[in-house]
Amino acid sequence: MQQQQSLGMEGQLEPYFSHPEGFTLFEADALTLLEQLEPEQFDLIFADPPYFLSNGGMTCKSGRMVSVDKGRWDKSQGVEANHRFNLRWLEACQRLLKPNGTMWVSGTQHVIYSIGFAMQSLGFKILNDIAWFKVNPPPNLSCRYFTHGTETVIWAARDENSRHTFNYQLMKEMNGGKQMKNLWSIMAPRKSEKLQGKHPTQKPLELLDRIVLASTNEGDLVLDPFCGSATTGISAFRNKRRFVGIEQNPEYLELSIRRLREAEQGQ
Ligand SMILES: C[S@@+](CC[C@H](N)C(=O)[O-])C[C@H]1O[C@@H](n2cnc3c(N)ncnc32)[C@H](O)[C@@H]1O
Repeated sequence: MQQQQSLGMEGQLEPYFSHPEGFTLFEADALTLLEQLEPEQFDLIFADPPYFLSNGGMTCKSGRMVSVDKGRWDKSQGVEANHRFNLRWLEACQRLLKPNGTMWVSGTQHVIYSIGFAMQSLGFKILNDIAWFKVNPPPNLSCRYFTHGTETVIWAARDENSRHTFNYQLMKEMNGGKQMKNLWSIMAPRKSEKLQGKHPTQKPLELLDRIVLASTNEGDLVLDPFCGSATTGISAFRNKRRFVGIEQNPEYLELSIRRLREAEQGQ
């Protein structure tokens, strides 16, 4: 596989970790680093940004009542400040996409409307909104709402002129020979995906595999600006795509490296 190219404006950026097969991690604030990377270098950007839902609520886990709080990074700053934040990092990502590159952003009701509006305002071309059905979600404890069983994943091209990659045939094959719909039933990450440690909002590998396989080709370069435990990176690695991840918490970067070592052994 191709070696990692120079990513920074002047090749000055020091990665936290770099694997020769093209798996690079940066410990940084995404907003700052995104603005320093060379433009138009990524084929795909997947982002699972802060949800802004960690504001003292409760949920149910393994039959027990637990706090929904994911960490300080997930606290809401208020609707307008949250939206300014979304506009800023999305604009920085748009600058980094190749002309035909695409962007995927996942989110719950707390953030996805701001994300969608920001993407429309910036001139992204929305291609699909995927309804990810979580199959076995935790029950709603208050019994005053429907169970939250879905997350939305917006898929968008850089702009109206983009000729985006869509591996239609492969998606059809993966769907038993039928055209794949925008409703994806995918379970939460399995225990086997958490052997190296836990991230509070870890995404299932099956979800990222589908995204990576649908919209990139082997050797393509993938970015995740809020990479957490690097699920996107593990999927990129096992599907022979190159990866750059940004994360501000070194604990999660270490978890990502352990996951990569595990994936290497599984090859
Ligand atoms: C929703 S989680 C991503 C989880 C990831 N998709 C996974 O599968 O593990 C968002 C991550 O973004 C990180 N984060 C939040 N704000 C950040 C920022 N400004 N710069 C870099 N990382 C940030 C958090 O530490 C958290 O790990």
